[in-house]
Amino acid sequence: MCKIARVAAALIRVLYLVAVAAPAKSLVAVARVAFSLVNAPCLRYMNQAARGRSCTGNFCGDLLVGAMAHSWRMLVQGLTSLMFLCARADEYVRPPPSPLVLMAHDKPASHPQQVHISVVGANSMRISWVTDDRSAPSVVEYGTSPGKYTASGTGNHTTYHYFLYKSGAIHHATIGPLDPSTSYYYRCSKAGDEFTLRTPPATLPIEFVVIGDLGQTGWTASTLSHIGGGGDYDMLLLPGDLSYADTRQPLWDSFGRLVQPLASARPWMVTEGNHEIETLPVVDLAPFAAYNARWRMPREESGSPSNLFYSLDAAGGAAHVVMLGSYAAFGEGSEQHRWLEMDLARVDRRRTPWLIVLLHAPWYNTNQAHQGEGERMRLAMERMLYEAQVDVVFAGHVHAYERFTRIYDNEADSRGPMYITIGDGGNREGLALRFIKDHKSAHLSEFREASFGHGRLRIVNETTAVWTWHRNDDDYATVRDEVWLHSLAAAKRQTTGRRHVNEL
Ligand SMILES: *[C@@H]1O[C@H](CO)[C@@H](O)[C@H](O)[C@H]1NC(C)=O
Ligand SMILES: *[C@@H]1O[C@H](CO)[C@@H](O)[C@H](O)[C@H]1NC(C)=O
Ligand SMILES: [Fe+2]
Repeated sequence: MCKIARVAAALIRVLYLVAVAAPAKSLVAVARVAFSLVNAPCLRYMNQAARGRSCTGNFCGDLLVGAMAHSWRMLVQGLTSLMFLCARADEYVRPPPSPLVLMAHDKPASHPQQVHISVVGANSMRISWVTDDRSAPSVVEYGTSPGKYTASGTGNHTTYHYFLYKSGAIHHATIGPLDPSTSYYYRCSKAGDEFTLRTPPATLPIEFVVIGDLGQTGWTASTLSHIGGGGDYDMLLLPGDLSYADTRQPLWDSFGRLVQPLASARPWMVTEGNHEIETLPVVDLAPFAAYNARWRMPREESGSPSNLFYSLDAAGGAAHVVMLGSYAAFGEGSEQHRWLEMDLARVDRRRTPWLIVLLHAPWYNTNQAHQGEGERMRLAMERMLYEAQVDVVFAGHVHAYERFTRIYDNEADSRGPMYITIGDGGNREGLALRFIKDHKSAHLSEFREASFGHGRLRIVNETTAVWTWHRNDDDYATVRDEVWLHSLAAAKRQTTGRRHVNEL
């Protein structure tokens, strides 16, 4: 009986592959060719128009080609939005969105765009950028004074396909060794603008900006302007949901250009959210294709098998930041679970008084949006974080701000991490406005507000840090919430004797 069922299942599978999947794939291949034939001239027209140049040489010709290009673009956008809606029709329905802020590249194809940087190991920096010209060299020249490049780093580039889209060359090159707290001037692909970065400090104090669910709307733009380009902070941490491209790949490029003024100046350390997955039914596209190609993080240096979870040291090891993946397997026996165990075991809390974790779907949340979505991960990993005495856990996903007290297993616990949801960067889905008054965690929630904004964690010294939340409600960033933290490792050292007796 079982055997017959198995054979039947195998037959159905073969039939599916032959009759549905294969034709769908060849259809996509034909569509891809047709698409590029129509799309290339349309893009050329758009670029010419953006630069204020004529495409056909006369006014009527431009008008006609322009109308065709625009309707083509509308059609493509409509189709991809439709696919996106089909893929995830059960999403929480939010208030109407703010318009997208689209950024064009109006320089030659060989010029770098979408420049962003990330720390690699103790004193190196990875520079990532895109050129439409795939033969542009993956070289970064740099030095400590403008225009004088005394050293260089060479990397390589990658590209990816997504349905009908083919990316430009996505370059990654590592530069270093670099001095701490130092400004470097650099140029990518030996062309285009010079950029400036400042390396993080090798000792405390250090200041992190934390912001989740960023997107690329008018709200995003105001959050970014409140953070500031040449800002008074050292590193930006992002707990997932970057571009909200949601399968429309050119939006990844536009996002890269929108964040470039900030992301080319300070390291942006990110982890993935649900909007990075971008799989579609039928056409089997690998998940995280765009995210992994574009936002490469220091996984090798932290012994991680995946770009979806990794860790880094900051301030010479005084702070250890663990980036977890809510959308990579996390259960016992999974690669992530094993890696986390190993990573936490390597942290020496005498050398590293601050331990910080970021992940996307919050473990504690009293907002109506995304209730319970982080629960399985909490059950799998909360104990490990508690035993390692993690100081703070930042999450995104819920588009609001919420700060909890120190918690372990649904109870207030002075030895547990403080939980903060900071998914209020400003994406197109808007705010999650409804908090649940009588939620079972409501008594643990110390501050909650549905406004866009960003947070800052300033670690003053080995015992003390201050967290502030800056909301965007006004034309300037207003500090709405402030709390002082004491490192759990330092507290443990001070009270070891007493606690030891208590535990006996
Ligand atoms: C690019 O360089 C990195 C680091 O040197 C290397 O691990 C990777 O395999 C290279 N990729 C390609 C496509 O050559
Ligand atoms: C750390 O900074 C806080 C706040 O400025 C201060 O009160 C405390 O004495 C400092 N601790 C050490 C060990 O320097
Ligand atoms: Fe999310």
